[in-house]
Amino acid sequence: MQTNNSLQFDVYESDTEVAEAVSNEIIGFVNQNPNSKISFPTGSTLSKTYEILRSKAQHGKFSLENAEVFLLDEYVGLPKESKDSYLSYIIENIQKPCGLPIGSLHYPDVHSADLNQASNDYEELIAGGLDLQILGIGSNAHIGFNEPGTPFDSKTRISELTRETREANSKYFGGNVDLVPHRCLTQGLSTILSAKKIILVATGKSKAKAIAGLKEGKIDESLPASALITHGNTQLIIDEASNTVKQTNN
Ligand code: GLP
Repeated sequence: MQTNNSLQFDVYESDTEVAEAVSNEIIGFVNQNPNSKISFPTGSTLSKTYEILRSKAQHGKFSLENAEVFLLDEYVGLPKESKDSYLSYIIENIQKPCGLPIGSLHYPDVHSADLNQASNDYEELIAGGLDLQILGIGSNAHIGFNEPGTPFDSKTRISELTRETREANSKYFGGNVDLVPHRCLTQGLSTILSAKKIILVATGKSKAKAIAGLKEGKIDESLPASALITHGNTQLIIDEASNTVKQTNN
């Protein structure tokens, strides 16, 4: 266990302010680097941010037309055209409204007969190439679908979801945990860390324990997001509700 916290914490009063700050970061980044390769997560934390990006795009102030976008993770086991897939979510919330050509949207082939090969192919496509990685965080500090205990050198692979994560995500399946897939394909922790810049977003008190762990600065596999402490260019944009650790040194 090491304690060398190099994370930058930006704390805002509300989740609305968080969404404004995150969208400003993304817009600024893409304006400076229109050809960026960006990985986007799904989940409720980023939904307000995506709403702002869509509105800016509608007013001609933001466009992903020259960018390339990568999915962070995806369920295994949903039907191809499922509206609950992360691919459907990103198509509706990012690709179509922000002018991203469909050919510039990349995702793992979770319908392949050989999921290990599909994982390796996706890893090859992204590792080392991402300019910007946007992340949410699970209440157990998972990032992507890298659950506690995931090795920090893990690559893109098939992963088993914990009961806690399936329960948390049941809200997207009408509250029925039995409908939440058991498996997913996720960028690994080393894949995530290979991005040049990372922004992790957290809002709400359900994330407070995970954020407190990160503030403590312990680098430990039981806290997957603590791998970010080793990255060197990671910014956390969080709200007060998720920020329970008081600063003592200022
Ligand atoms: C989910 C996803 C993550 C997401 C996180 C937080 O399980 N696999 O990519 O960032 O957990 O989700 P939410 O924003 O809905 O709290």
